[in-house]
Amino acid sequence: MAQVYKPTILSIEVSMLIKKPTDIPSSEITPESIYNARRDFMRGAMSVAAMGVSASAIDVFATPTQVADKDLPGPDWLKMQIAGAIANQEKISEPLTPYEHVAAYNNFYEYGYDKTDPAAKSHILKPHPWTVEIVGEVNKPRTFGLEDLLKGVTLEERIYRLRCVEAWSMVVPWVGFSLADLIKRVEPTSKAKYVAFTTLERPSEMPEQKSRFSTIDWPYREGLRMDEAMHPLTTLAVGLYGKVLPNQNGAPLRLVVPWKYGFKYIKSIVKIEFTEKQPKTTWSMIAPDEYGFYANVNPQVSHPRWSQAEERRLPSGLLRPNIIPTQLFNGYAEQVAHLYKDMDLRKFY
Ligand code: MTE
Repeated sequence: MAQVYKPTILSIEVSMLIKKPTDIPSSEITPESIYNARRDFMRGAMSVAAMGVSASAIDVFATPTQVADKDLPGPDWLKMQIAGAIANQEKISEPLTPYEHVAAYNNFYEYGYDKTDPAAKSHILKPHPWTVEIVGEVNKPRTFGLEDLLKGVTLEERIYRLRCVEAWSMVVPWVGFSLADLIKRVEPTSKAKYVAFTTLERPSEMPEQKSRFSTIDWPYREGLRMDEAMHPLTTLAVGLYGKVLPNQNGAPLRLVVPWKYGFKYIKSIVKIEFTEKQPKTTWSMIAPDEYGFYANVNPQVSHPRWSQAEERRLPSGLLRPNIIPTQLFNGYAEQVAHLYKDMDLRKFY
């Protein structure tokens, strides 16, 4: 894989792949006023009561953030379930990245290598109907239709930082649920040590999968250790900003692991396999010296071609690069550092 090397983050863009730098001009930055935070007193109060938590402990009035004017294609039952999502208790004080950036600045190599390719080309993906096959070391292997997979699931809005290994970042209001809830339904056996995820392989709807020049061995694959997969922060997302996931963001189902680099957040998942051995993952197969299996956000462990000490928080442009320090485990150390307490994070990057 040929590479463009940009020595510092201030030079705008580092890239996993060779491509001309792309940046969203500041003229495209949308004013805050286009999205609004809806407050639903009844639902907030009900969810607090159901959890037996005292109202003072959390923001009972917080309900999912929505973009008012986005009506994305998707079945009504899914839209309704997403609209009924409750607010998660995790708090974040940083501003959300505007929808227009979350849905326009993407990595989804099945559609090309420019940040704008996924939004421009992924409309050909048909995310409905959709099935997810669950196989391997489980007592109850099963192929779920998306509707069955989400049946009885209470969706939550989960506002998390997303830090890409390329040193840009966002704050995204996902709508989803803990992967752990799904894992419990299929009853992993004692041999299940890892979880492997696979993206759809459908070249007719994912044009790069038929390119002779692609460096990726399709389908895109990712994996987690079982304790990482069971961690309550690990999320299967079906929406963002209170709406169904746009295709470019991995419709209809994608992974969100907020303490890891973005390449772990595999999109458009069709298969989940429980394994005894550590599964092969797309980026660690392409460049094992650069992209490890763990991929925990770590400002002290540089990528071989650039520093990871800082990041460009979107929206970011030439005049306002918006550079901020990167936090260990992307700011989630308190919740996840114990998972790695006996591990050398330089070795297991
Ligand atoms: N999943 C698939 N199937 N294909 C991809 O190319 N790119 C990954 C990840 N998931 C990718 C993928 C990378 S490198 C990043 S940074 C995130 O998706 C970006 O997610 P976003 O486009 O929603 O911001």
